[in-house]
Amino acid sequence: MVANIFVDLPGGLKMPALGYGTWQSTDKELEDAVELALQAGYRHIDTAYVYENEKVIGKVISRWISQGKLKREDLFLVTKLPGSGNRPEAVKKFLKRSLENLQVDYIDLYLIHVPFGFKDIEGDLHPVTPEGEIDIDVATNHVGIWKEMERNVESGWVKSIGVSNFNIKQIQRILNNARIRPVSLQIELHAYFQQKELVKFCKDNNIVVTCYSPLGAPGLGKFLEQFGQQIDMPDILGNTVVTDIAKKYNKTPAQVLLRHCLQKGLVAIPKSVTPKRIHENIDIFDFKLNDQDMEKLNGLDQGPAARILDFSAFKGIKKHPEYPF
Ligand SMILES: NC(=O)c1ccc[n+]([C@@H]2O[C@H](COP(=O)([O-])OP(=O)(O)OC[C@H]3O[C@@H](n4cnc5c(N)ncnc54)[C@H](OP(=O)(O)O)[C@@H]3O)[C@@H](O)[C@H]2O)c1
Repeated sequence: MVANIFVDLPGGLKMPALGYGTWQSTDKELEDAVELALQAGYRHIDTAYVYENEKVIGKVISRWISQGKLKREDLFLVTKLPGSGNRPEAVKKFLKRSLENLQVDYIDLYLIHVPFGFKDIEGDLHPVTPEGEIDIDVATNHVGIWKEMERNVESGWVKSIGVSNFNIKQIQRILNNARIRPVSLQIELHAYFQQKELVKFCKDNNIVVTCYSPLGAPGLGKFLEQFGQQIDMPDILGNTVVTDIAKKYNKTPAQVLLRHCLQKGLVAIPKSVTPKRIHENIDIFDFKLNDQDMEKLNGLDQGPAARILDFSAFKGIKKHPEYPF
């Protein structure tokens, strides 16, 4: 069993610093991959209602629990309220569905997935207007949604709550109005886009930062092509600073990038459905990058220009008053 590092969350929960991402996998490949991930020692799984894969994950988890191979309390399960659930009266409905899909009694960390809201149209998570734009709901009220998130902590359906893709102003507004504070912020964060100001803000406010796309999301370009979007994907794994450091430690570029996140006190949730990579990505607890190599990797930061996922695949999303970037 891999000895993960645990990050302490306010309230006493322990979050494994290296988790398993699940976006963009087909049901078949994901069932095998989650099985392998649990065997490899992952105990933190990141999903979301919009990934439409919670049922597959739930199937594997419940199999492991019923076979006595896994205790529920040893698993840290993260899922997210979809954009179409971004209104107070919809929070419970979507949370209940996630609990049913995942076949669990509680979620360890429930996140508001995005700060902008869509119309809630049954059976259509990303409704589109006749003009072809995403059908936004401009009335999105973070404070009202947060109060519902808090109620679900009190009812025991979730152990902790947080946000994803929020900016400083949006998080501060929640902090100003919260009885239960957000314990975590999940954002795009990798060597080219290190979000230093936002990370400092979170550290100052005792909010754990989880890095999504920690490898630079090499599969995303192909995915976005389906939406007619062409973007220049960075090749962080092939950057010579990263590959040289990897050679020095006899590790892979992915392992170096993940270690870089963890040594900065961050949590990382790489996604892979490839058996060799599933093992590789969690095999990062037998080496430590020295200060000079950490500095070299810190120096790869290119700031906001290196953001990969700005949600512009949702045509018209920037018109939403809570568009965060
Ligand atoms: N909150 C949000 O809005 C948000 C947004 C994006 C992502 N996320 C979460 O964060 C997770 C990770 O982000 P991501 O999937 O965008 O990007 P990522 O983890 O940086 O990259 C995943 C891609 O890298 C490949 N890969 C994985 N391990 C590798 C390795 N060791 N060497 C070479 N290539 C490797 C994977 O391919 P194979 O699978 O084919 O191996 C996949 O194409 C997601 O799965 C999701 O759970 C959250």
